[in-house]
Amino acid sequence: MKEKIRNLLENRKAILLAHNYQPPEIQDIADLCGDSLELSIKAAQTDAEVIVFCGVHFMAETASILSPDKTVLLPRKDAGCPMADMVTPDALKAKLDKPPYLPVVTYVNSTAAVKALSTICCTSANAIKVVNSLDASEILMIPDRNLAQYAASYTSKKIHVWDGYCPIHELLTPEDIKKAKQIYPDAVFLAHPECRPEVLALADNVLSTSGMIRFARESGNTTFIVGTEVGLLYALKKENPNKDFYPASSAMECPDMKKITLEDVAGSLEFMEGLVKVPENIQRPALKAVQRMVDLSLKK
Ligand code: 13P
Ligand code: SF4
Repeated sequence: MKEKIRNLLENRKAILLAHNYQPPEIQDIADLCGDSLELSIKAAQTDAEVIVFCGVHFMAETASILSPDKTVLLPRKDAGCPMADMVTPDALKAKLDKPPYLPVVTYVNSTAAVKALSTICCTSANAIKVVNSLDASEILMIPDRNLAQYAASYTSKKIHVWDGYCPIHELLTPEDIKKAKQIYPDAVFLAHPECRPEVLALADNVLSTSGMIRFARESGNTTFIVGTEVGLLYALKKENPNKDFYPASSAMECPDMKKITLEDVAGSLEFMEGLVKVPENIQRPALKAVQRMVDLSLKK
């Protein structure tokens, strides 16, 4: 199956991008694994004609926003992100129609239609940089309340918080961390900014998924408690076979990130199924918000 996929990728002039939470067999066959920011940048820069996105729907949409002339395939169209659906264009419009009239920083975990109404996007890797780049003293951050509260603690700006959250990261409690620290007292606790503030307060470092991989690679520590979706453990262990990684909670499995199989990838490439195409009237304004973020992230 892996050989079939590699052949299909070559014949279609396609690139396979996979998020760090994808199942091991998908990560192993991908041209690039990464966090949302790295995958967005790669999607903007690739000269491949087809992008096969192994992740969830908003990630494939972001690739389509950045590369409107390319074919973007999501091998399972039903792989979504519940947090992205916690803000709709209508609900956002209703908020923006009333004072205070605020610039909107939108987490990439959002629909293209919501991005189209936004000032700038951000990811877990650059949220603080994005917030501090804006020439405004008050900002609305959507849809993740935890990421917004985390960014608020690193800025003098007033952050207005939307009440969305990731149901997977929300599962992690301070009690889970206290228990894990009792079992692994020398471990470094790494947390994703989608975790609740009371969990982030216990973290040694708050990082995006690829930020965790980089940190583990460079750290002198050998034991880590990982506060994010359990799929990341595979990438961590693969890069650092001599280090130990423990999930902060084994309940943190995102079912949407586990939907795509190798058979789905092969089928999608063979029959060009799972097309994700953002319509032009949404793509154009959404591109402004995504491109602004990408440009800021590439700036030293
Ligand atoms: P990263 O951008 O850190 O990879 O996170 C994406 C995501 O969906 C986290 O739940
Ligand atoms: Fe969405 Fe959470 Fe799954 Fe990430 S882990 S894709 S934020 S539901």
